[in-house]
This record gives sequence, C-alpha cells and structure tokens, in this order.
Amino acid sequence: MLARLAAKYKVPVGVSTVASTPMEEIIEAAEGHAWFQLYFSGDGEGTFRLVDRAKSAAYQTLVLTVDVPEVGRRLRELRHGFKMPFRIGPRQFVDFALHPSWSLRTLRSGRPDLANFRKDGFDFDRTESRAKATWDTLSELRERWHGKLVVKGVLDVQDAIWLKERGVDAVQVSNHGARQFDCGPSPIEVVPNFRSKLGGDYAIFLDSGIRSGSDILRAIVSGADFVFVGRILQFAIAANGEAGLFQMWKVLEEELSIAMAMVGLSGLERDSTVKGNRS
Ligand SMILES: Cc1cc2nc3c(=O)[nH]c(=O)nc-3n(C[C@H](O)[C@H](O)[C@H](O)COP(=O)(O)O)c2cc1C
Repeated sequence: MLARLAAKYKVPVGVSTVASTPMEEIIEAAEGHAWFQLYFSGDGEGTFRLVDRAKSAAYQTLVLTVDVPEVGRRLRELRHGFKMPFRIGPRQFVDFALHPSWSLRTLRSGRPDLANFRKDGFDFDRTESRAKATWDTLSELRERWHGKLVVKGVLDVQDAIWLKERGVDAVQVSNHGARQFDCGPSPIEVVPNFRSKLGGDYAIFLDSGIRSGSDILRAIVSGADFVFVGRILQFAIAANGEAGLFQMWKVLEEELSIAMAMVGLSGLERDSTVKGNRS
C-alpha cells in the first residue's frame, strides 16, 4: 500500500531493514521511489550484505538509522506482550477473533516476518546492541555505498556537522517518534539551529510528531527541506485500508495548502518568501 502511494505521488517510501515485504518487491511496486533504511547489527557483516543487496535491487538512497543503539524500553509493547518474531498467545487469539477480516487476510498471506532475512541465511536480532557501530563504520559505509547516504535519528547539531564533513548527503532530524528515548529534545525544537549551522544548501529532513498539513508547514518554515511521517500512515491504513491511506494524503495536501494561505505563502521554495528564510 505504501509503495503504491509512493509511486503515485513520486515520494520515497522508507523500506525498513525489518520490513515484512522483501526490499526488491517494495522498490518494484514503488516504481523506484523507495529508499532503503539500514540498521547496523552484530559485527556488521550482515549489515554490509544488506547494503550490497540494496545496491543490486537498484536502490539509490540509503538511510542509516543511528538512534537505536539499544532498543528503548517500550512500555506499551511490554504491556501488550509484543515480541519479534511475532508469537501467538491467548491475547492474540482474542484479537484475531475481534478482527476477522484481518485474520483471514493474514492467514491467506502468511504470518508477517522479517522478509529481508528469509533467503540470506542470517538473522536479525531486534534486541541486540548496536553499540559496535562507530564513526569508522560510517566511513566504511560511505566508501562502499556510492548512492545518496542519509543519517536518520540526529538531534545534536554537532553530530550533524561531523556527518556533513564525512560526506553524508543529508541528516534526518528525528527522535524516532519518541519511541526510543522520550526525554530528548523534539526535532521541531532543534531544526532551526541545524539550518543555521549547516547552511542553506545542506539537505535537512525531519520526522516525529507530524500529524497534519500545518505540522508539515511548521517543520518546513523552521528549516527542514523534507518531512517524513510514520504513525499517521498506519493510523490511516488501520482506519480504512489503502483507501484510507490515499485519503490521508489528500487531507494532508489540503491542510498544507490552507496553512500556506493563512501565512501568505504561495510556494515552499526557500526563496519564495522573505529572502533566504522561509520563516
Ligand atoms: C511501528 C513503527 C515501526 C518503526 N520502525 C522503524 C524502523 O524499522 N526503522 C526506522 O528507522 N524507524 C522506524 N520507526 C520510526 C519512524 O521511521 C519515524 O522516525 C517515526 O515513526 C516518526 O514519528 P511519527 O510516528 O510521530 O511520525 C518506526 C516507527 C513506528 C511507529
């Protein structure tokens, strides 16, 4: 569903390392509008295999997520008994019974699993520490990956300066939707400083907490070039499947357009407003 949305609007869908559809299938359905999101794991061997695979699948942009050195203690997941790989217990049976059409569809297409690991003969342990990744790992990645490289999960502007110096093409200011560490700063608070320290030409992306078109505008006038969304995609799908997803896109478009009108903007290019500064 997400890949089809990406193809229609020519925007990138982020394909997680732990996606439940193989990366090759997603980029095909997205007609090329897909970026591969990389998690470092273990000693890095499997990680670099994934990088090579993304290259063979014609991915042109790699997004390295760095804000999960350890998986955060997610209380709701603990309370609901959420585990990877997914395990079925009594609670899940009740859930299946209450959602029969989802259950039938899932029975037909099989239990969701980590599809990028099926055929490569290595596993991904979601709870394993990623602390073995260092700045040298980034340099190695930069040498091996010749496409665009984005680093996601940056909240400290000094880190962003170092990333830029090391040849990273863009930073994604993100706190992982506050699923990881909910006492850090929020991206919307720190992004203006990123823009002023990194300069007008460096690509800055933002995600976390975007719920509406006016949130998108806030992020853009605060210094972001591109805005990404996470949970609202899932809320839309949960509410009304693929139709809900496409409807959500229309709502965002309309909200953004109205918000732009409210503040007197006719475009989002940085020089379409006050010189060199959208805010
Ligand atoms: C269910 C779920 C799974 C996620 N999985 C990943 C992931 O595999 N890799 C990653 O970089 N970010 C992952 N994220 C974080 C998102 O990429 C994004 O940073 C976050 O959802 C943005 O905040 P928002 O949900 O408020 O829009 C996940 C988020 C959610 C809600």
